[in-house]
Amino acid sequence: MRIFVTGAMGQVGQRTVKSLKSKGRDVVGFDLVAPPDADPREWVAGDLSDIELLRRSMDGAEVVVHFGAISDPIEWTRYPEIIATNVVGTYNVFETARLLGIKRVVFSSTINTIGLISWLKPWAPDYLPIDENHPTKPDDNYGATKLMGEVLARGFHVRHDMEIVCVRFTGVLFADMPASIQRYQGFLADVDGELVNRMWSYLRSEDAIEGVERALFQPGLGYERIFLAAPDSVTGEERIESLIARHYPTLTEQAERLVAERGSNASIVNTDNAADLLGWKPTLSYLQIPELQRSRSEARR
Ligand SMILES: NC(=O)c1ccc[n+]([C@@H]2O[C@H](COP(=O)([O-])OP(=O)(O)OC[C@H]3O[C@@H](n4cnc5c(N)ncnc54)[C@H](O)[C@@H]3O)[C@@H](O)[C@H]2O)c1
Repeated sequence: MRIFVTGAMGQVGQRTVKSLKSKGRDVVGFDLVAPPDADPREWVAGDLSDIELLRRSMDGAEVVVHFGAISDPIEWTRYPEIIATNVVGTYNVFETARLLGIKRVVFSSTINTIGLISWLKPWAPDYLPIDENHPTKPDDNYGATKLMGEVLARGFHVRHDMEIVCVRFTGVLFADMPASIQRYQGFLADVDGELVNRMWSYLRSEDAIEGVERALFQPGLGYERIFLAAPDSVTGEERIESLIARHYPTLTEQAERLVAERGSNASIVNTDNAADLLGWKPTLSYLQIPELQRSRSEARR
């Protein structure tokens, strides 16, 4: 079974390709650039706007993973370019798959579809824990264009019976990437800063890849939106219920109930849907990364 992966040179894409290949899967990667020593049977350098190239390179695949996107930075003035890649590019991938008779596509969506990370104004979730039924109200081009991708996915499912699984990652933490660890060290230094809009949620890359692989092969899926998040919250020495009481005071009781039901420092992103549909459960915490353990104790001093 051949798997076609867009955004294959990206942070998650590269690791997913490696993981799939290590399991003996036949993978074709697609990205703006291919690795210098790429085997042309396995890599295609091209733009998501090139639907003819997509058709030629996707031909022969049975499933598709669509990671290709402008994921960062997300300046407001880049809205047109971001729509071109994240919306038109996503349409091109779904439409090419449809024309080639490929039923299953895994689309990397994001927690930003509901709002948060990029909000400029004070923000609070409507309820806790958040799940896939939470209202979507992004105010930024990244969250908005990923949400538009989900809307396209639903249309392709309704109209053409395609199975499009939108895996909504929370911020991915790469334990094998020093820059990623440093970023989280920075976050931990001030749990009342950037982490507030991230709702102290994150996802280890190994679990992200496991979720994507399950979404590729799990039978019986249609149009799905599935949150993938780590089991716990990045809160340093604080407790999630104290942080919620401070930042989302109207949700204090819901936070206390969540901790009573799901355990100390549980994530406030509910991943039950991933467990039900994919048999996926998050296995890895930031606490297992020694550098982040140290940052935690440094923050305490
Ligand atoms: N990393 C995270 O924390 C995170 C969180 C939520 C969602 N996501 C989503 O998951 C996916 C993978 O994330 P990532 O961190 O690997 O992103 P990334 O930015 O590292 O990778 C995206 C890849 O898409 C490629 N790309 C961009 N425009 C393209 C175009 N026009 N044509 C072809 N390829 C193009 C880029 O070259 C890049 O290699 C992305 O869609 C991202 O939006 C990531």
